Amino acid sequence: MDLLDTRLYELIGEEGFTKLVAAFYRRVPDDDILGPLYPKHDMPGAEMRLREFLIMRFGGPETYALKRGHPRLRMRHARFHVNRAARDRWVSLMEDALAEVALPAEATMILHKFFDDAATFLINREG
Ligand code: HEM
Repeated sequence: MDLLDTRLYELIGEEGFTKLVAAFYRRVPDDDILGPLYPKHDMPGAEMRLREFLIMRFGGPETYALKRGHPRLRMRHARFHVNRAARDRWVSLMEDALAEVALPAEATMILHKFFDDAATFLINREG
């Protein structure tokens, strides 16, 4: 993990992550690829899990781990059909969300790289 990563929470705070994840999840339900994969009845819950995970990953409070334990993201995504198209769409919605919330340029760069790599790592189906 890059040293800068642990300073991101200092830089954008809970508010930065909250705005970003809200902007992302606003785009999910109507998306033709991602919409059907997410829990319709629990979008606020899904939003909270991603927000708390990112806050922890980038140097903030460890609320996510206290509630859910070790992230084990590959395992937690195993039951979802994450192929290249789903991965690309996820990254593209997140890029739109990053553009919308306009965080400081350094923060956007760090997050962009993280999402790009992490989403590739989560691909678990070929087609
Ligand atoms: C950078 C990439 C990604 C990160 C950091 C990420 C992170 C997360 C986290 C933290 C959760 C909640 C896990 C839990 O505590 O149970 C989650 C759930 C989920 N993710 Fe991802 N994810 C990423 C990419 C993707 C991609 C590419 C897909 C494509 C289909 C996807 C689909 C889902 C779905 C459907 C859920 C279930 C929603 C829920 O109930 O929380 N994710 N993700």
